Amino acid sequence: MSASETNPAGAGEAQQPQPSNPITQQAADAAVEAALAAFAAAGSVAELKAARTEHSGEASAIAKLNALMRQVPKDEKAATGKLMGQARGRIEGAYQGREAELAEQEAAARLVAETVDVTAAPVRRAAGTRHPLAQLQDEASDIFIGMGWEIAEGPEIEHEWFNFDALGFDPDHPARAMQDTFFVEPADRHLLLRTHTSPVQIRALLERELPVYVVAPGRVYRTDELDATHTPVFQQIEGLAIDRGLTMAHLRGTLEHFARQMFGDEAKIRLRPNFFPFTEPSAEMDVWQPNAKGGARWVEWGGCGMVDPNVLLAAGIDPDEYQGFAFGMGIERTLQFRNDLNDMRDMVEGDVRFNRQFGGLV
Ligand code: PHE
Repeated sequence: MSASETNPAGAGEAQQPQPSNPITQQAADAAVEAALAAFAAAGSVAELKAARTEHSGEASAIAKLNALMRQVPKDEKAATGKLMGQARGRIEGAYQGREAELAEQEAAARLVAETVDVTAAPVRRAAGTRHPLAQLQDEASDIFIGMGWEIAEGPEIEHEWFNFDALGFDPDHPARAMQDTFFVEPADRHLLLRTHTSPVQIRALLERELPVYVVAPGRVYRTDELDATHTPVFQQIEGLAIDRGLTMAHLRGTLEHFARQMFGDEAKIRLRPNFFPFTEPSAEMDVWQPNAKGGARWVEWGGCGMVDPNVLLAAGIDPDEYQGFAFGMGIERTLQFRNDLNDMRDMVEGDVRFNRQFGGLV
């Protein structure tokens, strides 16, 4: 029988109102359920910690409930304290369970993210290759070094005097015009990007003891447009021999040897009269290329001639005592016809696949 049945309505009015227990099982369960749901919903340890603050921190429902402990009637304090202890225990237990779960998930995810596949092939840096122009330049230089010649050098930004005057170009020679030559400002310094390697002839003669046998490979500049057979920056190899008693026969023999080394034993050369301000006589040199792809043929290869006495005089050499010959050819052009390349632009584009065709791995 319940108390209300033994006390009919109205009968209780005379009684003191019992202070009721504000901490009910229901309220505690609600606080616990809310905490458990929030912990389960937390997707990371950080979220879980935030949920703990919310559901068991100072401002949480369970803490507020706990604060009502003072209002709990004395005789119910023990049972209510137990109720609260259990509620707190469930919250804490759920927190710890979820924390372990999340920590494990995060560790597993990190392991996946940071996996190093030790069986995977390493990314190797492909070895570069020497540029075919550099290879050809060395090949040509080596042929002369083999004959006891030396390498000579000069600057790419050259004085007009070396590039033109000392080589016998008239002051109004068309090659000096701005449409052919890159001049360096200010104009009154008379500096330009050398248009050929021939100024190295003058430098070699001024710097060296006679006799002189030198080759000068190097970069030269002209205002040409870049197309299949021209580049505004290209390379030449210059040759200069000054000694007592040198004749055109020495020039011929030297070039013939050079041609055979470059194009095979059956190669030969032919000279056609031409004009250069710094050689007299001058010739255009053709090479008979026996192994050309479309069949053996004559190809124009470079310029040459006997060094003009005025060039020797400009370098302080007595032309009655010393004579010599000079020649010059383009490296790009040589590579182009020797290796049957259609387009010179391939040589300057820097695609390593072009280089690899020539071997020469470094
Ligand atoms: N310098 C000349 C040119 O660039 C080539 C040349 C060199 C001619 C040496 C004769 C002697 O066309």
